Order: sequence, then structure tokens, then C-alpha cells
Amino acid sequence: MSAPRGQFSSNIGFLMAAAGSAVGLGNIWGFPTKAAQNGGAAFVVVYLLLAFLLAYPALMAELTIGRHARSNMVQALRGISTGPISRLFGNLTGFGGIIVASLILSFYSIVAGWMVAYLAEPFARLLGAGEIANWLTSGSIGRNLLFAAIFSGMTMAIIASGVEKGIERWSTLLMPALIILLLLLIVYVLTQPGAITGLETYLIPDFSHFSWSLVISAMGQAFFSLSLGVGTMLIYGSYLSQQESLPRLGALVTLIDVGIAFTAGLLILPAMYVAQEAGTQIFAASGELIAGPDLILQVLPALFNTMGTAGLFVAIAFFALMTIASVTSSISMLEVPVAFSIENLKLGRKTATLLVGLIIFAISSLIIFNFDSLFVLVISISTEYGQPLLGVALCIFAGWIWRRDEVLKELKKGHENIGSTLFWKIWPWYVRLVCPVLILAAFAQSVGLFSG
Ligand code: PHE
Repeated sequence: MSAPRGQFSSNIGFLMAAAGSAVGLGNIWGFPTKAAQNGGAAFVVVYLLLAFLLAYPALMAELTIGRHARSNMVQALRGISTGPISRLFGNLTGFGGIIVASLILSFYSIVAGWMVAYLAEPFARLLGAGEIANWLTSGSIGRNLLFAAIFSGMTMAIIASGVEKGIERWSTLLMPALIILLLLLIVYVLTQPGAITGLETYLIPDFSHFSWSLVISAMGQAFFSLSLGVGTMLIYGSYLSQQESLPRLGALVTLIDVGIAFTAGLLILPAMYVAQEAGTQIFAASGELIAGPDLILQVLPALFNTMGTAGLFVAIAFFALMTIASVTSSISMLEVPVAFSIENLKLGRKTATLLVGLIIFAISSLIIFNFDSLFVLVISISTEYGQPLLGVALCIFAGWIWRRDEVLKELKKGHENIGSTLFWKIWPWYVRLVCPVLILAAFAQSVGLFSG
């Protein structure tokens, strides 16, 4: 065998890395706007329930398989297969995970590149380089390519440094910075006129919005936010020491993820209404609150512009927050194909990172050149179809294919009395039956199988 496998040096290191993977654009951008459009706190309540009842068990499946196998997704699923059919299924799921993780990274790098460009813009203004500042927010192909390349380069540099010196070190450094920036921004925005209306929109539940599509939207959000289905949590679990209790660490990751999503809502919604107070349009023609790129790239920058010099610093803080959230997530996506290339194709870490990173950047470029036809398509294939389906496959592995006594043995490491806990009484049934059925039902509903 080649060089020894990397490992996180402590449970805090793992926690920061896994929480860093989970906390990303999905939390700060996706969650608050979905909540605003789906009845505020009504969506928050459904999301909380789904995160703990559905996503947490699925997260545990990935972490347990990963730590047991101590290898990448393909190798891990092959290892727990019991015959030729489950082995084939394992190969399909494993390679599926690698492909979907790479696709997610290909569009994520474009969006994160926008964040870096918008972070650079106030600096250009401070330096009096108005033309460059305009170009940075222009949306041109050249700008998109350059900043996707810069962001991909950052991701690759961290992954090339390895598990402890790259992933762990940067996540441990950046996650506290993220939390501090988020809290500072909230304190500032809440003192501005209009903020309270935003808080009300977010926190007063409107259950008239409750519907199947709300549940599906919350489920997709929970899966994306906890980085499930594509083997990121599996590979992070594989770098975790056997002295740690998996159910406890998994629960903490879920809590941090949900906590930061909720907290981000306290920033984004009030900021939108402050923008409205300052004269910016925050409702689309359909009457819904503006979400998506228009919210982050137009509504919020328009708000920062009304704040004078303070606005420059608020803009820097906000886009630094978005960049940090993105990079701690993107490294976890890149680690999936890189770990496979190191372990199965026997490449060195630096070569693997460069090779895989360049291939994914080529896909990003393809999307940038064909933005109108590919961008939404790639997001939909990878997050709406890929992640839930692979999530089901992983639950089937943990619940049906992998032997129960082996699963218990793995969970006992670092948690001796797990066999007598509520977790062990409930979780195996959850991954066996509840998770696959719920995910598939929601999936069928979302692709319209029940509506014809
Ligand atoms: N969880 C990340 C976010 O919320 C996205 C992600 C998806 C990361 C899949 C890794 C794998 O932005």
C-alpha cells in the first residue's frame, strides 16, 4: 500500500470539518429564502423535524460506513457488499456519488466565484478603481471564468495539503471566523430601519403555506445542507478516530448545521426589509420575495450601496462570510473524487488533486459558456435527483446489505453502551424503512409520479 491514510487529529477537528462541509451557501443563501417563501417559521419547523428525523439518520449511515471501511465511497460499499448483486449496486452507488459530488462542485465553484468577485469589489472601490469594480460585478463570461478558476484554485490548494494540514486546519480556522462574521452582521442589520418587519416575516409562522411541496423543498434543503448522498460525510467519517462516539458527533454536526441556517435567517430576512425601507424592490413580479442570484447579487449590494462608507465594510464582511462558507464546503466535495483517485488509482495526493480539480474546472467552464442551458440543469440533476436517490441507496446499504452485528460493532467503538440506547433501538429501523420510504415518496411526488 502507498502512504498511510490521513486522519483528523481530534474530534474538534472532525467537527469543524464536517460542520464546515455542511454549512455552506445552502445555509446562508438557500435556507433563509426558502423559509421566507414558504411561510416563515412554518418552514423552519418542518425543516427542523426533517433534519433530525430524516437527515440525521442518513448522516449516521454515511459516517458509520465510512469509519468502518476507512476508505472512499466505492471501496467502502464494495467492502460491505455480500454478493455480486450488492457489489454491482455498490459500484453504481459509489461511482454515482463521485460523479454527483463533482457535478455539485462544478456549479458551486461558479457561484462561489461570484462571492469572491463581490468580495473584491469594495476593495477596488476603496482603491478608486471604479472600472475594475464595475467589471467585477458585471456578470461577464470572463469574470465568471476567472473567479471560478480562483475559487477552484483555493479549493485545490487546501485539498492538496491533505486531511490534517489542509481540511482540518482550514476548517478549524475558518468556522469560528464564519460564526463571528455572521453575528456581527446580524447585530448591525438589526439596528437598521425595517429590520423588524423582516424578523416578523421570518419568525411568525404562516401554516397556510403547508403543503407537500413544502415538505419536499425542506427535505431537499436538509439533504443538500447536510452534504448527504455523495460520500462527503462518508469520507470524512473514514478519517475519524475509533475513539469517538459517532451518534454524538453526528448529532452535533446536525445541530450546528441547523443552528447556523436558522441564524442566517436572522440576517438575510431583516436585511431584505432594510433594503426595502431604503427603496430597493424586494418582491418579484410574481409577488414572491426575490430569492436566488438576484437576492445576493442585486438586492443586498443595493442595500450596501445605501450605507455609505459603512456599506463597503458591511459588503466585505458579508461576501467574506459567503466565501468562507463556500470553501469549507467545496473542499469536502473535492475530497470525494480525490480520495478515490489516491486509493484506487494509486495517484499521489497532489497529482490527484490537480487532475481532478482541472477536470471539474473544465466542467465549470462548459457550464459558464452554456450558462442558460446548463446551469439550472446541472443543479437539478445533482441536487434534486442525484442526492436523494444516492441517499436512499446508502440507507439501503446501512439498513439491509451491511450485517447488523457488524454495524453494531462499529457503532460500539467510542460508545460502549450504544446497544442499550434509544438510538440503537430506533436508528436501524429508520435507515431500513423510514428513510428510504420517505425519501422515495417525496422524490416520486417531486418528479410528478403521483400527479398524473
Ligand atoms: N452542504 C453544503 C451547503 O450547504 C453543500 C454540499 C453539498 C457540500 C454536497 C458537500 C456535498 O452549501
